[in-house]
Amino acid sequence: MVDKPTMTTTAGAPIPDNQNSLTAGERGPVLLQDYQLIEKLAHQNRERIPERVVHAKGWGAYGTLKITGDISKYTKAKVLQPGAETPLLIRFSTVAGELGAADAERDVRGFAIKFYTPEGNWDLVGNNTPVFFVRDPLKFPDFIHTQKRHPRTNLRSATAMWDFWSLSPESLHQVTILFSDRGIPVAPMFMNGYGSHTYSFWNDAGERYWVKFHFKTQQGHKFYTNEEAEQVIGKSRESYQEALFHAIERGEYPKWTVQVQIMPELDAEKTPYNPFDLTKVWPHADYPPITIGEIELNRNPDNYFAEIEQAAFSPSNIVPGIGFSPDKMLQARIFSYADAHRYRLGTHYESIPVNQPRCPVHHYHRDGQMNVYGGIRTGNPDAFYEPNSFNGPVENPVAKEPPLRISGDADRYNHRIGNDDYSQPRALFLLFDDGQRERLFKNIAAAMKGVPGFIIERQLGHFKLVHPEYEAGVRRALKEMHGYEATATSAAAE
Ligand code: NDP
Ligand code: HEM
Repeated sequence: MVDKPTMTTTAGAPIPDNQNSLTAGERGPVLLQDYQLIEKLAHQNRERIPERVVHAKGWGAYGTLKITGDISKYTKAKVLQPGAETPLLIRFSTVAGELGAADAERDVRGFAIKFYTPEGNWDLVGNNTPVFFVRDPLKFPDFIHTQKRHPRTNLRSATAMWDFWSLSPESLHQVTILFSDRGIPVAPMFMNGYGSHTYSFWNDAGERYWVKFHFKTQQGHKFYTNEEAEQVIGKSRESYQEALFHAIERGEYPKWTVQVQIMPELDAEKTPYNPFDLTKVWPHADYPPITIGEIELNRNPDNYFAEIEQAAFSPSNIVPGIGFSPDKMLQARIFSYADAHRYRLGTHYESIPVNQPRCPVHHYHRDGQMNVYGGIRTGNPDAFYEPNSFNGPVENPVAKEPPLRISGDADRYNHRIGNDDYSQPRALFLLFDDGQRERLFKNIAAAMKGVPGFIIERQLGHFKLVHPEYEAGVRRALKEMHGYEATATSAAAE
């Protein structure tokens, strides 16, 4: 017979009966002194925490980053030195859906990686696309509101989405990717990841380079058409969780090739596009991807809630040798994520095991709710302020980043002026074969169902500027699918 451990209260006392409540008489009411019953109900009432305001539905696993290339001349980061092996956690997600959303919905996928490096946690919180819908963080909450539910109907609103996109032509690049085949990957293993933003590398000599990160799937790209996704969702809303979890349990470990594009610091002043604009890629011909290693996912979490729901990723987590860039969106994200974690998980979210760095941590923050550190973080109770005379932790100038060259007057610059929103979506459109284009047209037309004509026409105007065939194809699909025709009022869209 298996020797089972004794069940206890949370205070550790043995529980004599977990089947029958304590009652006054066999048929009588329960007694207030049945603390085990009260504790059970009270804990259940507290089982949910706020879901992430975006990227609520996710799937994750642990793995390793192995560095095989040599980029030591660009960065001093230990995690990126030749031969380095670093444990990591990845959480994939959809953006708009709530916690219970179906996995196989058309949406951008989050691709958030936490590298537990010897110099602290490095979080690369990217997506499965290299660009984003907006380039100024002032527009992020507006954009997200268009993806969430309408306040009155409590339904998703195609009108809101296309109204916003058609008024924000910088979204065209990401919109084209979203409605292309890559908009519904079959499972997380069959898609790329991108750091998306431009970050920087800096080396021991204090030289800075701009860098973009790419994670290329080794499983190949596999996607669902809209019709296939409907079938899948009809059978299971959890198709990603099933695919990822079971692949790892079977020992089929998904892998991605890690690549970087590197731009010398002063090139940023010469490129015809702003290299810090999140709606743009760096063409491979200009900055060829350099393969530096591989990531593999090889271990499922034991407790989804503790390890995936409580995982806290933040672009603010960088390590020496890696820096930020002037990308406005990245700058806003440096603030936003830690703020979200303090709200969603609590002040001490970094002491939750999945978020704990795997290196010594010494700081002077104190107290607060749920301080579970179990000791003062300076290592010495007399050293609770800085500077002190009690050998408390001190700063290390070796971690100092080289100065960032910045110039210009503080102002609110109109990012729509002088920005070419059409060439890069055109380059992508031209990569698509006939079949890919037809599916793009149909996917867009399907998503425009019920949208007022003047908004459709405004968006078609943008597609035309990308490529006349793009506009013609979507117009044709709109007619075939919904009988849509431009009317005098819709064609007169501003
Ligand atoms: P390249 O021909 O060198 O690269 C094309 C890239 O497009 C490849 O990385 C390929 O990814 C990717 N791609 C193919 N189909 C799709 C799709 N449906 N959705 C998203 N990406 C796709 O050309 P350029 O570097 O000059 O870029 C041309 C266009 O390709 C860009 O405007 C951009 O839209 C897109 N792109 C460019 C990237 C870059 O970093 N330069 C990265 C991703 C996309 P894969 O190798 O995985 O098949
Ligand atoms: C999640 C804000 C842009 C990728 C989140 C969360 C917030 C947020 C508040 C929830 C965090 C949490 O509760 O744990 C923002 C803001 C943005 C922005 C303010 C722009 C100004 C982006 C971009 C990307 C991205 C450009 C990708 C390139 C992600 C991912 C997650 C996420 C992957 C989920 C992380 C996880 O798995 O826990 N974002 N976001 N976001 N965001 Fe953003």
